[in-house]
Amino acid sequence: MAQKIRIGVLVSGGGTNLGAIIDASASNRIDAKVVFVGSDNPGAYGLKRAQKHGIPTFVVDYQAIIKETRGRPLEDMVPEDLDLERVLARQGIAPASSDRMKIERYFCTRAIAEAALLREMAAYPFDLLVLAGFMRVLTPYFIDRVNTDPSQPRIMNIHPALLPSFPGTDGYGDTYRYGCKVGGCTVHFVDYGEDTGPVIGQKAFEIVPDDTIDTVREKSVKLEWQLYPECIQLFAEGRLKVVSKTYTLENGAEINRKIVEIST
Ligand code: GAR
Repeated sequence: MAQKIRIGVLVSGGGTNLGAIIDASASNRIDAKVVFVGSDNPGAYGLKRAQKHGIPTFVVDYQAIIKETRGRPLEDMVPEDLDLERVLARQGIAPASSDRMKIERYFCTRAIAEAALLREMAAYPFDLLVLAGFMRVLTPYFIDRVNTDPSQPRIMNIHPALLPSFPGTDGYGDTYRYGCKVGGCTVHFVDYGEDTGPVIGQKAFEIVPDDTIDTVREKSVKLEWQLYPECIQLFAEGRLKVVSKTYTLENGAEINRKIVEIST
């Protein structure tokens, strides 16, 4: 049997995707082992799931951190290695943008929380970081410290919609309310946007007139529980490569796209 890769998982809630990954690992359906589970939410049931399996857990309480920073100067609290200008540039925020102060504060508070996450994670070397219902947007400060080799992204996310449609916190709800005939889920490598980055895999299901939001969610989570382990296994087998492709139209215009190639 192939050597198992080490995966770290971040969750904010119930952790049913985490459960599917733990089961897939326990039954050797994936060559991967969960080495830690972290959360921004002390009440996340996903932490209990992990503990039941003897997996180490930690919490970085974002809400408490954000509360603690309110009304206080942040200079002494931000991590020493935070290069705010670089983070803002990577995020595409212009130096003269309105609301600059507010934006700077947002990124400083997130970097404080992310530095705490990185400190906790440092205890558990890992090959792949898996976001399984982690409802916080990670900033370039964090992402660049995990993706130390830009050609080898190693943070994955699952989203309950066919991206790039319906990013955000309620992918199924948004799909259902829009009246889509098809819904689905997406696993992708994480870049600097919210639920954006090169797509690794997607699964789709039909939405029929009698469907309710609950039946849609039910159909979809079942597919998530299959899709995430499948994508983790492709990573474990070293079969994923992000490549940039350029396609030239007849009028000379160039179309650039980043795709994940899956080798056989
Ligand atoms: C899942 O449906 C996942 O796709 C979604 O959160 C849920 C977590 O459920 N993630 C997002 O919406 C990310 N934007 P779980 O805790 O039971 O795995």
